[in-house]
Formats: sequence, C-alpha cells, structure tokens
Amino acid sequence: MTTPKLNLAVLISGRGSNFKAIHQAILNNEIQANICLLLSNQKNAEGLEYGQQHGLKTLALEKEPGLSREAYDETLIKHIDEAGANLVVLAGYMRLLSPKFVQHYEGRLINIHPSLLPKFPGLHAQRQALEARVNTSGCTVHFVDEGCDTGPIIAQREVPVLPGDTEESLSARILEQEHQLYPEVLAQMASGKIKWQQPA
Ligand code: GRF
Repeated sequence: MTTPKLNLAVLISGRGSNFKAIHQAILNNEIQANICLLLSNQKNAEGLEYGQQHGLKTLALEKEPGLSREAYDETLIKHIDEAGANLVVLAGYMRLLSPKFVQHYEGRLINIHPSLLPKFPGLHAQRQALEARVNTSGCTVHFVDEGCDTGPIIAQREVPVLPGDTEESLSARILEQEHQLYPEVLAQMASGKIKWQQPA
C-alpha cells in the first residue's frame, strides 16, 4: 500500500518556531507534505502571522468562557477534518486535549516535548531537568495518547546540560534540536519509514 501525501494540521499557541521549521523544510522539499491548516487557540499567536504571510489557511479559535473542553474540541475536529488533514501536529499547543479528540486522531496525532521522555513530562520540562541536575536532556517526538506526554516515542535527540545553564540557555539549545528533529520525523512519516495510522 502506498503512503498518501501528508496533509498536516499544525496546532500552535504562541511563537510557532517549530511550525516555521516544518514549513521551511516543506518549502525546501525536505518533507513531501502540505500544511492544509494552521490552527491556534490564541488570536495573538506570533506563528499565526507568519502563516498568513506565507499564504497558509489559518484559523484562530479561542475557547469561549463556559464552553466545555469537549465542545471546543469538537469544533476543532470539524475544522481539521474539513481541511482534509490526515496528520495532526502539535507544535507548542498549550491546551489539554479531550479524550474524544485524542481517540479521533489515534495514531495520527503527534507532539514535540522538550525533554527525553519519560523524564520530565508536563510543564517547564527544562526547569525540571536543571532541578534534577541531569547531565543530558533533549527533546522527544511522540504519538499522543490520553496521558500527559506518555504516548509512544517516535524519536529523540539529546543535548548536554552545561555548567551554568539557565532555563533560557538550556531551552535554546534544546529548541535548536527540536527544529531539526520534528521535520526529520515528518519526512520519515511522509516517506512511509515511520508508520502512522491512516484516517478511516
Ligand atoms: C517547544 O519547546 C516545544 O517542545 C514545546 O513548546 C515549545 C513550543 O515552541 N511543546 P514554539 O512555539 O514551537 O516556538
């Protein structure tokens, strides 16, 4: 069976530097894929402006107070599916996902996290690494399941933790690797080297 072309829905909440790295890799023909939707839960996300400037279909969808997580995620599902996405890429998306969303995209929902999972899941992973005084940290691309950063690991990249590192310096060193690892993983998904679940 041939692997269909990757149609990515990229979900962000802020800066969007991983999204930009993925977009640049597509422009450079390093990933055979298309970004069919850039979605942000924050209207002012920096990455949205970049997406608009580069002619991508973008959508800012803020959750109304009082709307349940499930109802909000149902709207997300509708937009993502209507855009024709077959892989959902979380890139600094800072909202917890409902079980329904995770189940809907099982095997085709991936995330990048700034630690060597299973170490330091959740928020402030770089700070956690510094507090634990580890010599090595890094980043992980993984499939998303219903736990917090617990899904099957796809690929990891290590970076040293250096004496005198601050949260900022360690984050920057890890981010440099994130910008290489995420596009590399997507390239391998596009070529079929990394298996992912096709939509039903
Ligand atoms: C990255 O460190 C990523 O690992 C984490 O959130 C950060 C997003 O950065 N999930 P950016 O928005 O891609 O610049």
